[in-house]
Amino acid sequence: MDWKPNRHSSIPVYKQIAAHIEQLISNGEYPAGSVLPSERALSKELQVNRSTIVAAFEELRALGIIESLQGKGTIVSKNIWGGTNRRIPNWEKLIETGSFLPNPSMMRTIRKEMYHQDLIDLASGELSPELSASPYFRKILATEDFTYHVGYDHPQGNLNLRQTIAQHLKEYRNISATPSSILVTSGAQQALYLIVQCLLQNGDAVAIEDPSYCYSLPLFKSAGIRSFLLPSDEQGVDPEDIIDLYKKHRIKMVFLNPNFQNPTGSLLHIDRRKRILEISSYYGIPIVEDDPYSLTAFDQTKVPTLKSLDQNGTVLYISSLSKIVASGLRIGWIFGPQKAIERLADAKQQIDFGHSIIPEWVAKQFLSSEDFPIHLQKLRNSLACNRDKIVFSLHDLLGDQVEFFAPDGGIHLWCKVKSEIDEQQLLNESIRRGVVYVPGSIFGTKKGYARFTFGRASEDHIYDAMTRFSEALRHHV
Ligand SMILES: Cc1ncc(COP(=O)(O)O)c(C=O)c1O
Repeated sequence: MDWKPNRHSSIPVYKQIAAHIEQLISNGEYPAGSVLPSERALSKELQVNRSTIVAAFEELRALGIIESLQGKGTIVSKNIWGGTNRRIPNWEKLIETGSFLPNPSMMRTIRKEMYHQDLIDLASGELSPELSASPYFRKILATEDFTYHVGYDHPQGNLNLRQTIAQHLKEYRNISATPSSILVTSGAQQALYLIVQCLLQNGDAVAIEDPSYCYSLPLFKSAGIRSFLLPSDEQGVDPEDIIDLYKKHRIKMVFLNPNFQNPTGSLLHIDRRKRILEISSYYGIPIVEDDPYSLTAFDQTKVPTLKSLDQNGTVLYISSLSKIVASGLRIGWIFGPQKAIERLADAKQQIDFGHSIIPEWVAKQFLSSEDFPIHLQKLRNSLACNRDKIVFSLHDLLGDQVEFFAPDGGIHLWCKVKSEIDEQQLLNESIRRGVVYVPGSIFGTKKGYARFTFGRASEDHIYDAMTRFSEALRHHV
């Protein structure tokens, strides 16, 4: 066998061996009834302990692919496909060949660890249960009469909700929208997915911020989109870099998250906003403004969204209730030119036949209730307290070992560790000490950063979390 297991993979070696043998069997290299090499021979050939081969064989035996016969050794089961013509699908191979790429492995590891352990969570980009609006939902469900028909609804989403979103956009974000130019989506995530799938094609070039949430999404790569990076600082990206990328790569679209950006918490400077809109309309490059965070602004000043300044209709505006109401409601939306919205709605219908009416109804009731502004104000106050707590903890525990700025909204703080670190090891050490966050390299090219989400953990746990992180930093090698 030329093949050898990959010792750096997150998949255990015995599983890799079992999958490889299964592949050889399904490829016909070991036909039904043939004898497999002995455990001893395989362990020598693959340079692994015999117990690893035993575990791999056990896995295959449990699946009915091989069996042990006294005096004969291990043979490929005769009834895999022989007499009955049954073939075992090679799932390992199938999952590798799909065109939709999996999440980055570090992200999958973080999620797995969070499900299996009781960790202080500075990794999940969402609100804590205490900050979410669930208590108001209970009130709505208990007091309001649900009268909607539960059938397939309009492909753009329920009209009452779209009317409410249009009013909300006017009142809270200074954006004039009509319900017919709004598409309700399953969060901002689905909005991004639909835009990539319907308005771009394989080989197209786009610009994204570095670092950015979009960088962490394989959905761009899955669609064959080439992403070019716009370096960003505390005031967002430099508009002139967009022109450079346009001239070099003919970028087709720019994806920006200008308000309390994920992961940096930065707010795009107003002059830069205006210049970006000028460039966008001069070169005809659409801007996708991904805006889940503008309403979290701690000081209540209205953040001038790009869309509210857009006089030429070059901005596709995405938002969602995930970061201000509840992420599990899965209500987001896109507002833009009607033709584009209809195209995206047609695709959404093909994917899921439209949004579920129950969360749409809850969202409509809540957004139009008197409780919404009360909730929003409480949320902003609490997030500001959490932000203060994490800033205090970092100063107190790590002093000049770290560098960061305090964001004025959002739920993320972007922190540079000044000493050289091994991101994976520091994460492992932190998890061992009971705290989890997201290493910076997930979001772009910058090394030595960590994204701490202060909206998910309770205020009381933040100092404890940073104590554990600072200990991990001291002990990691
Ligand atoms: C910038 C940005 N866009 C989109 C999303 C997706 O959010 P959702 O689909 O929950 O609305 C997130 C979530 O973290 C985000 O930070």
